[in-house]
Amino acid sequence: MPDLSGKVAIVTGCASGIGAATVRRLRSDGADVLGTDINEADGAAVCQAIRARFVRHNVSDTAAWPEIVAQATQRWGRLDILVNNAGVVSQASIEDVTDEIWDRTYDINIKGTMAGCRAAIAAMKANPGGASGALINIASTSAMAALPGDVAYCSSKGAVRVLTQSVAAHCAKAGYAIRCNTIVPGATETGILNDAEEAMPGLKAAVAATSPMNRLADPAETAAAIAFLASDECPYMTGAEMLVDGAMMAVHPGF
Ligand SMILES: NC(=O)c1ccc[n+]([C@@H]2O[C@H](COP(=O)([O-])OP(=O)(O)OC[C@H]3O[C@@H](n4cnc5c(N)ncnc54)[C@H](O)[C@@H]3O)[C@@H](O)[C@H]2O)c1
Repeated sequence: MPDLSGKVAIVTGCASGIGAATVRRLRSDGADVLGTDINEADGAAVCQAIRARFVRHNVSDTAAWPEIVAQATQRWGRLDILVNNAGVVSQASIEDVTDEIWDRTYDINIKGTMAGCRAAIAAMKANPGGASGALINIASTSAMAALPGDVAYCSSKGAVRVLTQSVAAHCAKAGYAIRCNTIVPGATETGILNDAEEAMPGLKAAVAATSPMNRLADPAETAAAIAFLASDECPYMTGAEMLVDGAMMAVHPGF
């Protein structure tokens, strides 16, 4: 189990799904955690139950990011981990997508992730002992094999993958011990998939049946991979992608 004691983390989208599982996992591994979400009631409840702090924040409010980071550094004196997890789907194909759908999806999924990395790096550079930290961005297998019915989601998640590489390369070349990696979840039992199930009954079972493991991921399984990337166990791992998809991307579509 990674040891995160003494580390300070921020997790966005902590009210549900992978974010809630991540807050719980990082706390149980010893980190102090600030969770954020636009869903104040559920976010506060998740955090309160495990003695994490909660602040309401819309990740696309880029101007507020430095203040969010300051909430962690002022309380605990440093920032070691940022998990850019908040994300939304939009369910519109290239023929249906509007400028409003496109902008909202990109504002949350990619602009919010960029602003989080930017604000976190500024704080991590000021950590006692020198620049250090771990940035973890959440993409999707939809960024590797596209969804015909959600052009904004899968393309924004594709942008997250390359954003991670650029941030990682910049930090490495600048001599900062700040790593940046991507987690690529496959179909996971969370709010996003439950919403889609309501619109398309039977979807979850159909998706699970296409998985080589014949089931969806539990969010705790994704959180375990996030905790590893957040830890000091992998100091040479940066600019990388870790798939947590039950071999979905590994299997030939015909088999
Ligand atoms: N569930 C899956 O199958 C799956 C697969 C691949 C990738 N992902 C990614 O995992 C991440 C977590 O999603 P999840 O599956 O846990 O879904 P979820 O809906 O359970 O959780 C998403 C959380 O993000 C919050 N959120 C939404 N917009 C926000 C905003 N503007 N600012 C702050 N918080 C906001 C929501 O309130 C919610 O609590 C997302 O980035 C998603 O794209 C999920």
